[in-house]
Amino acid sequence: MNARAARLGVRVGALALKNPVICGSGEHVMTEAGIRAALRAGAAVVVAKSINESQAAREQLGQTDYLRTGPDWEPLPWHGEGGSVLCRSGLQPRDCAEWIAAVADLDREAAGDGAYVAGSIILAGLDAAVALARAYEAAGIRLLEFNVGTPYGDEAKHGGVATERAAASIREQVAAVAGAVRIPVWVKLTGQSENVTALAEAARSGGAAAVTMIGRMLGMLPDLDSMAPALDTNLGYGGPWALPLTCYWLARSRRAMGPDYPLVGTNGARSGQDVARMLLAGASAVEMCSAVMTGGFGVLGAAVEELATYLDAHDAAAQTIVGRAADRVKGFADLPARRDAWRDFVPAETLQA
Ligand SMILES: Cc1cc2nc3c(=O)[nH]c(=O)nc-3n(C[C@H](O)[C@H](O)[C@H](O)COP(=O)(O)O)c2cc1C
Repeated sequence: MNARAARLGVRVGALALKNPVICGSGEHVMTEAGIRAALRAGAAVVVAKSINESQAAREQLGQTDYLRTGPDWEPLPWHGEGGSVLCRSGLQPRDCAEWIAAVADLDREAAGDGAYVAGSIILAGLDAAVALARAYEAAGIRLLEFNVGTPYGDEAKHGGVATERAAASIREQVAAVAGAVRIPVWVKLTGQSENVTALAEAARSGGAAAVTMIGRMLGMLPDLDSMAPALDTNLGYGGPWALPLTCYWLARSRRAMGPDYPLVGTNGARSGQDVARMLLAGASAVEMCSAVMTGGFGVLGAAVEELATYLDAHDAAAQTIVGRAADRVKGFADLPARRDAWRDFVPAETLQA
């Protein structure tokens, strides 16, 4: 193994990844061509566009819309880098058996280059999720992601997708799916929870090989001209601002669950430096989605390069920085007193006698 490969390689449980950059699931990996482009760009794992059995979820693809906004909420052209993303998404409309066969073929192709293409299932009905997981395994796929926490559970047509927030249900759902197959199942969790770590612990006890956190939030953005909600509905909402929220839950989960249980970061990573930030917070690998959808597949290769540069500069390896910042998070009570420090952070008038 050369020095660069040794620096970039990470383990997520039993899986050795050539680097920690994962192309997360979304419309950009809805086609074979998109998945191949993500692999060519250098992603260690590409999570294929999700499926489930629900007709309502398929039909949702006919009602999708997408908006990229700048710092003052002004709409930006969709294709470009930076900004936040508001959208309503839908699932892969192709026949499940056909998509599973295609994804498994792509995973075989990826294996030749030391990469993975993961199948992805979004929870609707549990029996169907179990059947899809078995079908993925039978087709030869080596890794599954099971998303129990899309942002849209409360908005989409009844039952089409689930935003699962109850730890007991997550344990049961994960036990059914992970127990039905021998391949590793990563469980993707909602961020719309007061305790994401409790959901992660439930997923682990159900048999998740890793947990992916945190799913995007719901938002609503009033448009000043029309005085109507942007894109007419509540929307999934993500952006660079989400990175500290993701890092918070990664670090808390690492503390609660121990350093050996693998966490995968998602939500807010836009660059190789952001990948490093999530590694430092406790992720063993990091998914990038919005940055690729708006910025193109080259974002993935650029992230790998930027991460390599960061690691070189710190004479560190990706695996050895996992959790370094998380393990140094102090409690407020552990800090020395900084009396009057607040005075430097207020307008001058506040301090006038
Ligand atoms: C348009 C869009 C479509 C998405 N589709 C899926 C999906 O089918 N399955 C899934 O598990 N996650 C899906 N996601 C979630 C992303 O994979 C990712 O977890 C999330 O966007 C946060 O990461 P980011 O900040 O890199 O975008 C989607 C996100 C967006 C923006």
